[in-house]
Amino acid sequence: MVAEVDNERALRALLGWWAEAGVDSAEAAAILAAPAMQEPAARAAPKAPPKPPVRKASKPPPSSAPEDARRAADAAGTLVELRAALEAFQGCALKGTARQTVFSDGVEGAPVMVVGEAPGRDEDAEGRPFVGRSGQLLDRMLGSVGFSRSDNTFISNVIFWRPPGNRPPTQGEIAACLPFIERAVVLAKPRILILSGGFAAQTLLKRDDGVMRLRGKRLTCPLPALTEPLHAMVMLHPAYLLRRPQDKRLAWADLLALADWADELGIQRGTGL
Ligand code: URA
Repeated sequence: MVAEVDNERALRALLGWWAEAGVDSAEAAAILAAPAMQEPAARAAPKAPPKPPVRKASKPPPSSAPEDARRAADAAGTLVELRAALEAFQGCALKGTARQTVFSDGVEGAPVMVVGEAPGRDEDAEGRPFVGRSGQLLDRMLGSVGFSRSDNTFISNVIFWRPPGNRPPTQGEIAACLPFIERAVVLAKPRILILSGGFAAQTLLKRDDGVMRLRGKRLTCPLPALTEPLHAMVMLHPAYLLRRPQDKRLAWADLLALADWADELGIQRGTGL
């Protein structure tokens, strides 16, 4: 009788332990109904409780933020859908500290697209790229050769949320944003992509060369989703030019090179500022 009570208590404890380990009641019943293995007499004494069976994973392993980003971005068939996917994306920690997502400004489908680095304080407050001091300089630079966001230019950034204190984005943050900006370029299909500053240039061209080596040249941006080579030109970032106005002459030479290329490609330019 005492042995029966002990057995029942032990059985209940075992079932509770299995339940906590995730063994469901049907699996437990099957294990208990299975005939016990005959132990050799000499080893029968201290009997360890049977181990619960290893539970089969019912869900795939969690995917990483860049994979989630790539899936969400590639599922977007239009820039409107891409913006919505970005607003819904939770895989970049910068979203938690920024005031809002800064996606794009200007004319979707324009022949020229500018990609910068990341929103700053003014962009974070307004929700549009390049609206602060460097944005105003960018508008003047583009305007001098007949491009404007109201007419023939589309603008975005590699990073879509302001990094706290404007610190450089981390590798993880870049990897989480990259699929979205690459998809934005594919969907916007510019004739010429302008990469503003070394960060945008190196990230999208996948090159290590410094901006001074890359600027003003006729380059190609490698985007596997595009069937035709994408023309790209690197320019000095307007924030850099605000710090080093003596280099504006280099920027002017690059703008003239851009204008020549646009004319050769038959891209309509405005009359300039
Ligand atoms: N600098 C950038 O690179 N992008 C902006 O949107 C603003 C400043």
